[in-house]
Amino acid sequence: MHDEGTSSRPPEIIDAGPAVLRRWRAADLEAACEAVLASLEHLRPWMPWAADFSRASQAEFLAGSERDWESGVAYDYALLVDGAIAGSAGLMACIGPGGLEIGYWVHQAYTRRGLATAASAALTEQAFALPGIDRVQIVHDKMNVASGGVPRKLGFREIGPRLLQERPPGGTGMGVAWEVTRGEWRREWLHAAR
Ligand SMILES: CC(C)(COP(=O)(O)OP(=O)(O)OC[C@H]1O[C@@H](n2cnc3c(N)ncnc32)[C@H](O)[C@@H]1OP(=O)(O)O)[C@@H](O)C(=O)NCCC(=O)NCCS
Repeated sequence: MHDEGTSSRPPEIIDAGPAVLRRWRAADLEAACEAVLASLEHLRPWMPWAADFSRASQAEFLAGSERDWESGVAYDYALLVDGAIAGSAGLMACIGPGGLEIGYWVHQAYTRRGLATAASAALTEQAFALPGIDRVQIVHDKMNVASGGVPRKLGFREIGPRLLQERPPGGTGMGVAWEVTRGEWRREWLHAAR
């Protein structure tokens, strides 16, 4: 996934039904900080980076996203609803060859509207459109019931425990991994999420 043409990367803008996924830009700094600060209470238990969140750490995230996009390490998107930042979702090349992992968080005021599910369905679809990708995973702390609802709804299979790189403050550090393969993925899930 380097620079052998546009098809080796997902699109910069993805229609995810109730939301649009748009590649993060440096210019999103203020709006992104507002969204995170309004959601801190709900992010802190599960997102280790939320503990010492600051404008500077968000600027670092945005700069890192740009580098990761270029190198193919990760494709991070702002989740937009009517132009407002309603969360973040992305594909990460951290599970070995042929696989991508999805990560997400949703603004506290936008939860339980199917946004994480819709974003994950759209990202799964895009992952399988990339050359050489044949499995997509979602991993969450075993205590994070809300996060587990997303892969379950999309027909991912639970494939077992996974030690997380970092223990989130609200969790145990032991994760649950879910996977869908290219052969198992059905377009109906994309529509079910809309
Ligand atoms: C986890 C999170 C991303 C879910 O986002 P969301 O957009 O609200 O999720 P969806 O509306 O797509 O919900 C999908 C399913 O997940 C489950 N779910 C979502 N939120 C839930 C909650 N608070 N409690 C129990 N189940 C929940 C449900 O099964 C839901 O389906 P339903 O609404 O039809 O019952 C959001 O709660 C969040 O940002 N949490 C904090 C950060 C985080 O945990 N990120 C993931 C780290 S692995």
